[in-house]
Amino acid sequence: MTTPSQSAVTDKPFNQETLISANNISANAKTHKLLLINGVNLNLLGKREPEIYGHTTLADIEKNLVARAAKYGIELICIQSNHEGKLVDEIQHYGLLAESAAQVDAIIINPAAFTHTSVALRDALSATQKPFIEVHLSNVHARESFRQHSYFSDIAVGVICGLGHLGYQMALDYWLTHTYDMKLDS
Ligand code: DQA
Repeated sequence: MTTPSQSAVTDKPFNQETLISANNISANAKTHKLLLINGVNLNLLGKREPEIYGHTTLADIEKNLVARAAKYGIELICIQSNHEGKLVDEIQHYGLLAESAAQVDAIIINPAAFTHTSVALRDALSATQKPFIEVHLSNVHARESFRQHSYFSDIAVGVICGLGHLGYQMALDYWLTHTYDMKLDS
């Protein structure tokens, strides 16, 4: 049994992230920002081959995820582009080019067709040193053989595929629980 005053000291293990450094920001301080990246052709979700990718639009996916993250006090920044270089720029912008206090804590990415082609995006993600989850709406392993190689999976924390738009929510929930220690209601 611990008294309340003991528990204040002993129940909370030493946590480096709570350290405040000389400039008031620990190198490991959380920014409470996550980045959602969607690659080429995913702006067409809802219209594009709905039998494969579903009827939900990207705007709806982003709106739901932003609201879910906000409920837990986390800002979710959403980016979609059909241009590989633009996505590299955005990853740099929210990663190494930002002050450490402004960098995102973790990333959710569906690189779409860039999954199977882009060393440049892989390198950009490696350079950020931010953990990321790779998401695909469709089960890429049950499709054409060229979709079965990913330039991202071996450096991702995890890969979710084949679960439609719910895969994005699962990735978000993983970061909410594992990066921010949130207890989710539902
Ligand atoms: C996708 C799968 C890719 O192979 C494809 O090029 C996409 C979408 C998916 O979400 O299922 O554009 O990433």
